Amino acid sequence: MNFNVTFCEKDKPLNNEINLLNEKAVKSLELLKNKNGKGNGFLGWVDLPEEITEKDLQEITSCAEEIRKKCDIFVVAGIGGSYLGARAVIEALKHNFDYALEERKSPLILYAGNTLSEDYTKDLLDVLDKKDYCLCVISKSGTTTETAVTFRILRHHLENKYGHSEAVKRIVAVTDRQKGVLKSIADKEGYKTFVIPDNVGGRYSVLTPVGLIPIAVAGFDISKLVKGACYMRKEILENTDCKTNIALHYAVTRNYLYNIGKEIELLVNYQPNLVYFSEWFKQLYGESEGKENKGLFPASVSNTTDLHSMGQYIQQGKRLMFETVLHVENTDKHAALPVQEIDDDKLNYLKDFSLTQINHKAEEGTKAAHLDGGVSQLQISIDRINEENIGRMIYFFEAACGISGYMLDINPFDQPGVEFYKKNMFALLGKKD
Ligand code: PA5
Repeated sequence: MNFNVTFCEKDKPLNNEINLLNEKAVKSLELLKNKNGKGNGFLGWVDLPEEITEKDLQEITSCAEEIRKKCDIFVVAGIGGSYLGARAVIEALKHNFDYALEERKSPLILYAGNTLSEDYTKDLLDVLDKKDYCLCVISKSGTTTETAVTFRILRHHLENKYGHSEAVKRIVAVTDRQKGVLKSIADKEGYKTFVIPDNVGGRYSVLTPVGLIPIAVAGFDISKLVKGACYMRKEILENTDCKTNIALHYAVTRNYLYNIGKEIELLVNYQPNLVYFSEWFKQLYGESEGKENKGLFPASVSNTTDLHSMGQYIQQGKRLMFETVLHVENTDKHAALPVQEIDDDKLNYLKDFSLTQINHKAEEGTKAAHLDGGVSQLQISIDRINEENIGRMIYFFEAACGISGYMLDINPFDQPGVEFYKKNMFALLGKKD
């Protein structure tokens, strides 16, 4: 995995500007390592990959194996940090059309508890009426309305479908060690339960059971994911050179661009299966940095699809943004363009290119066009999408987010603003306490 930057002409920095930011970034990294910065009660994720034991992985894998034997569908109920990490990894690694495959090796993963839409919920129930399923309910607080409401509906559905004692065996709860109503229900009912560590916040929790249970049920190798994160942890924590430490380099670059007036960071992919990785990134950076009237607005596009919609704005609209491109070098899947003697569709000029090479040329051409249009280009490259590389990217983005947040002098580990809508909603719904 590597990181590089190409500034457009008008964004080019002076050396002393970057030097000052480098110093700030290194200090921010020290705050993370020494755990003496703002929000330091939520720095469990920093050492988490190293602290996951073989025994932890084994317990998760054997629970996942049981579930895999039992059901066609695994419903993951959670929202925000209790959902996006698992989905980002599963969507990145899975077959793009797994729902349409005749034969699947793993249960289909469906997501719930992340919306209050009645349409969505009823449609889900229609499917679950006819399929064998298990349920994982994930909530650190154990009180999040979207997840709690959905869990009540699905718990009843499971009990009606299978009877109480079988329903209990089909539910896994991932929640706080001791507090919250979900923990009380899980204890009372005897659900299999996994703990979200106290010192890991939702959006940094993908490498806890929050992410690892669904990822293992989906059939992916969680030890490789953790291995990738461990590798990146070492690379980042043990190097204070901002040129070679890719998290420092990235944090410095995005903070520099923010300081010169950029307001939006667009995470760009050229692979539809990375769309949910962008959703995870948006939550991670949006909730971590968007406070005290500060922070880049994290957004995303999926190319080349979005070049036919957002591409126009990015090329010629208001100059607000820079792009961070997720570049994937290779794939193990192949879909050849058939050779044709008669060039009726005028595509024979592509005969020497693979689809991946064509996609890469589109990426290269877009990068050059956007640079000409005044959009600086940051790039994170991996050789292919697999568990280990996704693990590396997870730790990279988490660490860079912590560093970036400290560079802004905010607490990157709280989310006080999320409470405002809840307060209004509860008042409107007449909630007592
Ligand atoms: O990152 C966060 O802390 C939030 O996105 C939470 O994960 C989200 O609000 C869900 O909270 P809980 O796990 O308590 O249901």
